[in-house]
Amino acid sequence: MRRYSRITGTGSYLPPRRLTNADLVAELARDGIETSDEWIVERTGIRARHFAAPDVTASDLGLEAARNALQAAGLQAQDIDLIIVATSTPDMVFPSVACILQHKLGANGCPAFDVQAVCSGFVYALAVADSMIQTGAANRALVIGAEVFSRILDFKDRTTCVLFGDGAGAVVLEASETPGILSSDLHADGKHVGILCVPGNVSGGQVLGDPVLKMDGQAVFKLAVGVLEKAAHAALAKAGMTEADVDWLIPHQANIRIMQGTARKLKLSMDKVVVTVDQHGNTSAASIPLALDHAVRSGQVKKGETLLLEGVGGGFTWGAVLLKL
Ligand code: UT7
Repeated sequence: MRRYSRITGTGSYLPPRRLTNADLVAELARDGIETSDEWIVERTGIRARHFAAPDVTASDLGLEAARNALQAAGLQAQDIDLIIVATSTPDMVFPSVACILQHKLGANGCPAFDVQAVCSGFVYALAVADSMIQTGAANRALVIGAEVFSRILDFKDRTTCVLFGDGAGAVVLEASETPGILSSDLHADGKHVGILCVPGNVSGGQVLGDPVLKMDGQAVFKLAVGVLEKAAHAALAKAGMTEADVDWLIPHQANIRIMQGTARKLKLSMDKVVVTVDQHGNTSAASIPLALDHAVRSGQVKKGETLLLEGVGGGFTWGAVLLKL
């Protein structure tokens, strides 16, 4: 009998400090940076974001999300035999956030590693965990997206600092005789490294380069809508399904206009798109599991429904995972 993987619990966590656009506009104004609630809402759909306290790391946020997901699945930390964390804002150069989180959680012994695919990180991590479960390498995985993007923002650059937030989301993925994950489709094209990057590096005890986020927003925007449509169609084709079979699209939460463009291309009404970017901003690898958990807990998304998760971001990376909840 074929082995599948299935999501049996979701969880998320947002750090308590919430900044509305008005709060951020006032903070930036103190440093002479001009922006407005109107511009941010009109261009992105973002109204608020959360920022972690200075001593809080990605593993701290991921830990809370993981605990919530375990509770939803009715499992203990010791039941987990694989931990994958998607992040681009790790606690340290090494070891991985996954190892640090594993110890905090008390799941010591199981394989634990990070996946770095920026805003596509969660769909990459979910596809990897699904493969490991299908082959029998794992039975019960925690797949987590955790980010403290506020650490890598340049608060003098209004074109990027208003877009991002901190947070974490997690799922428990268990072996199952029925799907579960139906298909996935992952891609990367490294020729676009320069349009979205943090061009800093640790060398000889110093940071070389500029360790803050740089983005050519328009280039990213144009690429994003096209590749998201292709990945969605590829994932659907692999599962022998069409757009009509999708109950919910849960895209990476970067910009409401990208989500609207993708939905239009997929002939899906916005009523079928889970949107949390207004309240969370862009939390990179955390955005999809955060949106999923909010949709599950609010009753918007229900067991048995077909979900299409889609990520896109730095690398350039993109991908989709199609699943039955
Ligand atoms: O998570 C990874 C994926 N990332 C994304 O998906 C981001 C994709 N890109 C985007 O979402 C959009 O390109 C942005 C939201 C980043 C920018 O929106 P846009 O409609 O492409 O604006 P723009 O860059 O063309 O800028 C328009 C104007 C410019 O002024 P001029 O040159 O027309 O006078 C900017 O200087 O808006 C100005 N501007 C701002 N004004 C007020 C840029 N940032 C701000 C700001 N407040 N924060």
